[in-house]
Amino acid sequence: MRNHVKDMWNAGLYDGNHSFVSTFGNHLLELLSPVEGEQILDVGCGTGDLANKIYQHGANVIGVDKSENMVHQANNKYPEITFMTKDVLELEYKNDFDAVFSNTTLHWIKQPKEALQHIYNSLKPGGRFVAEFGGKDNVQIITNEIIDQVKKAGIPYTSEQFPWYFPSIGEYAILMEETGFNVTFAQYFDRPTPLEGDKGLRNWMEMFCGNIFENQAEDVKEQVRTDVENNLREVLYQKGQWIADYKRIRVVGVKKD
Ligand code: BEZ
Repeated sequence: MRNHVKDMWNAGLYDGNHSFVSTFGNHLLELLSPVEGEQILDVGCGTGDLANKIYQHGANVIGVDKSENMVHQANNKYPEITFMTKDVLELEYKNDFDAVFSNTTLHWIKQPKEALQHIYNSLKPGGRFVAEFGGKDNVQIITNEIIDQVKKAGIPYTSEQFPWYFPSIGEYAILMEETGFNVTFAQYFDRPTPLEGDKGLRNWMEMFCGNIFENQAEDVKEQVRTDVENNLREVLYQKGQWIADYKRIRVVGVKKD
């Protein structure tokens, strides 16, 4: 079935303009602290940069990503690591991993309980889940403006088209506990994020907002993007740089023995 779903990810654009994703991921790696010989699953591995860093620590890492384009690029860059095209909801591992790691992915999964269950099942008893993704009100200034402009352009929009799940830390910690994790770390923080170049905000919208603009003509999308840029310049463009209003949650959960 996967082949019938359009792969919205452009791996080249991602590596070129969104390299901050794996750069910021270094902090999460410190939280993971991979140990030589551990089995580690990277959920939403993208083009493989963080999986490679885990591998450099001597761990055995498997990277999975829903996007074939991303996995293709990851395989080209790091042929010594195993990467597979797989959605988190398709994981069928049972007690196989010492750790599951996930950076900047889980906000794309609108069935968080199911995702957590698959992650939990993948872990060995005592194994750890270390993740970071968009939290409550993430990119709200940007998305409110996009939705306003979409509506003004007469494009039909319903909240189901909002592509992301951005939970509060309380909501997500409860889901983790209901799944069976001991939540040992939970953090919510602002992480203003530079978007590379003068076209940073436009590139970001092109890369990530496909669902919101679904089935619209290119000139209509262009107009919306231009209006969003014009309206947000005063708030989000500082010293020649677009800064996105990212808010993250970071969690660690341990599977009970
Ligand atoms: C994020 O990393 O928070 C994010 C990335 C793309 C779209 C929305 C949020």
